[in-house]
Amino acid sequence: MQRTPLIAANWKMHGSTALVQQMSAALSELPPTNLTIVVCPPATLLPRFSQVSSFALGGQTLSHEVSGAYTGELSAELLQEAGAHYVIVGHSERRTLNNEDDALVAAKLKRAVAAGLIPILCIGETLAQRQQEKTEQVLAQQLDAVYASQPELLAKSVIAYEPIWAIGTGESATPEQAQATHAFIRQHLAQYDTQSAVRAKILYGGSVNAGNCAALFQQADIDGALVGGASLKPAEFAQICLAVT
Ligand code: G3P
Repeated sequence: MQRTPLIAANWKMHGSTALVQQMSAALSELPPTNLTIVVCPPATLLPRFSQVSSFALGGQTLSHEVSGAYTGELSAELLQEAGAHYVIVGHSERRTLNNEDDALVAAKLKRAVAAGLIPILCIGETLAQRQQEKTEQVLAQQLDAVYASQPELLAKSVIAYEPIWAIGTGESATPEQAQATHAFIRQHLAQYDTQSAVRAKILYGGSVNAGNCAALFQQADIDGALVGGASLKPAEFAQICLAVT
């Protein structure tokens, strides 16, 4: 096995200190494995998680600036101080709701890497783009925006393929659809750096749950998952973590 698995939880704007306790308790009962678990709660909960958990933590976004008069923003360094080692970059909700374009996503990823955070770069197509058979073109453009000019960033990144039509809809991509797209992504990454493409962890995200995860994890190019809704249920999230090992 060239790649060890990684499961990340994206709590989005959900959670509480009570859920931090419950999740920490549920995950502490998992047997030791080579799985990396990364929980990305709202940033205010990171210090609380750091106090009670041993798994890795991540932010959900970061500023592309180092510091300054940017009200409401969080820098890579502030996230690190709160306990984060990872950060989600370019989630489709931020691309859509916060107008984050490819150039800004690239700047954020670069900032994360410069500060020593591991970025989880989210890419994915809309339903209309899939129906128009533009999926590969869209993904290639999202990847090129980050890595074409700086291929060295790939070795320091995790990629998450999240088809937008599968996020929060209960309609996951089928294992075959996801595998075909992950294989395309890996092949495209090889254009930047063959070795890093082989080693790159490519997570699947979009309505992953305890019922559908095992079939997804059996696919050759799926190295784990970025889980939204099901990551708010400690017992189910623990089951997903068990299924990948
Ligand atoms: O980042 C995770 C995400 O967008 C998927 O959400 O609720 O479909 O698992 P969900």
